[in-house]
Amino acid sequence: MAATDEADVVRTELRWAAAMGGVVTLIFAAILYAALTMHINPPSNIEVIDPKTLHLSGEFTESNLGTRVGADGAVVARIVATQFMFVPDCVVLPAERKVTLRFASPDVMHGILVTGTNVNTMVVPGYVSQVHTMFRTTGELLMPCHEYCGFGHSQMLGRVRVVPPDQFRPDADGRVSCGA
Ligand code: CUA
Repeated sequence: MAATDEADVVRTELRWAAAMGGVVTLIFAAILYAALTMHINPPSNIEVIDPKTLHLSGEFTESNLGTRVGADGAVVARIVATQFMFVPDCVVLPAERKVTLRFASPDVMHGILVTGTNVNTMVVPGYVSQVHTMFRTTGELLMPCHEYCGFGHSQMLGRVRVVPPDQFRPDADGRVSCGA
């Protein structure tokens, strides 16, 4: 079975190179397809935040968490991912409208995904994780932590309540919450 001369060796190597080239092309095509048609991309936002003080001042203080509609009409949900819960554990967002989700962690690395959507990111202490999306369907979507973060990891679960645009009614401060 041993290759008898150099021509055999070259032929074999070229065959392997072609096969591997095909595999690489296939993987790149899959990545491109997911990016262009399903809007699945690696997060590109780089924004630092001090995990030790994020609850004391600024964007991620408790009173600021949850969904808020800004004066410009932008819908932003701010969520803290912490051992072993999301704060708040439920957010309301409108369907068929561009929304932004922003996450920060005060302790360890968490990961979130919203089931059935393209929302999927790590939440790394020291950084704000930001995802833009548009929900196409309404209903209660589960948002589990998908990065092992300690003994309570499997209990770490949030919800995103996607409501029809006409049922998304912010209060005077632009806030919408699951409790209301
Ligand atoms: Cu948080 Cu796993």
